[in-house]
Amino acid sequence: MTYTVQGRHLVLGVCGGIAAYKSVELLRLLMKENASVRVVMTANAAHFVGPMTFEALSRKTVCRTLFETSDEAAVQHIHWAQEAEAVVIAPATANMIGKLAGGIADDALSTFMLAVACPVLVCPAMNTHMYESKAVQRNLQRLKEYGYAVLEPGAGELACGTTGPGRLPEPAIIFDALLDLLAPKDFSGRRVLITAGPTREAIDPVRFITNPSSGKMGYAIARAALMRGAQVTLVSGPSALTPPLNARVLQVTSASEMAAAVLAEMDRHDIVIKTAAVADFRPASVSDLKIKKEQAGLSIQLERTQDILKAVGERKQNQILVGFAAETHDMDAFATEKLKAKNLDMIVGNIVGGADAGFNADTNRAIVYFKNGTREQVDLMAKTDLAHLLLDRIAVMIPA
Ligand code: CTP
Repeated sequence: MTYTVQGRHLVLGVCGGIAAYKSVELLRLLMKENASVRVVMTANAAHFVGPMTFEALSRKTVCRTLFETSDEAAVQHIHWAQEAEAVVIAPATANMIGKLAGGIADDALSTFMLAVACPVLVCPAMNTHMYESKAVQRNLQRLKEYGYAVLEPGAGELACGTTGPGRLPEPAIIFDALLDLLAPKDFSGRRVLITAGPTREAIDPVRFITNPSSGKMGYAIARAALMRGAQVTLVSGPSALTPPLNARVLQVTSASEMAAAVLAEMDRHDIVIKTAAVADFRPASVSDLKIKKEQAGLSIQLERTQDILKAVGERKQNQILVGFAAETHDMDAFATEKLKAKNLDMIVGNIVGGADAGFNADTNRAIVYFKNGTREQVDLMAKTDLAHLLLDRIAVMIPA
């Protein structure tokens, strides 16, 4: 299955608005990922960004009018519409949204859109008052009824001087929304509980014990599951990452807070994935006052935290339970032991230590162990790709 835009036939529709410059950056991002992109632009869009810019970046003729018979793009637009796997209109002006809602075809983009049958992402960008007007809201509602995905504009100070919703989201956000549109929805209707990040165990009000976990693997799985149609609850320890937009996020700090959240939530979920690097020990007593350095030779008495994964394994009914194992050595022995002891369906073993895998890296390599005794070696790949690979393995375990 493909979860990237690589090799996908996409069409970028550009309307006339100040935000049209952002569609240049969006096109650049798509080309960087080796998508095949055709650009259809309105006459007004050409006032903001010249077609040459889009042509140079997409390395293809840009379609601006349907009435120049010498123009290959004009003749080909029906073919483009049939070939397209997704269309993104960014920015989409009030005028274009109205035309799409009403089925009007009086320029290249609106005419092209009537022939399109693939998923469409509309990204409105306009003055706040225009965006909030009854007509635009009614038209957007109608587009949603037609099955179009509408990316809500961001809020902030707009080029026209007003403040409020209407700003075109950043190209990276549009890119993610487009990936969403293209992904298979094989987790639709599934509720997935994911833990991520480290925990912090307080020593005193200013000190704690923790580990270098960044949360990247768990957040990547959360994003991937959302993209594939799941409802996601993300229980996150302290992490600098931005949580995925549509996840229900429960922020926790300590292992005991994480345990309370996970045990309260697990029965409402079909799949539980525990990527969190939970502290195994915490100070047996927490000082209410800052410990002063004069207390020379201080030693901290530690006690075990609850093994959350083990508790979930003991309580689970029909849930699919996935754990992670961070090991420095003897992976096969330790990971398979954890798989059995914690009643898991799958465990993802990470060898920690290298800079390109494990804690805080953007890439990971892993050995995946399954309940039936099989194992799969996964070579170094981006955590975002590993997230999808793991979901592929989980998808086949889901009872019909
Ligand atoms: N885990 C947990 N609660 C803990 C410790 C770990 O739920 N108190 C979970 C982690 O989220 C992970 C799995 O258990 O999915 C394995 O964590 P890991 O630290 O590799 O192993 P431990 O079971 O803690 O065993 P050890 O530290 O002896 O290797």
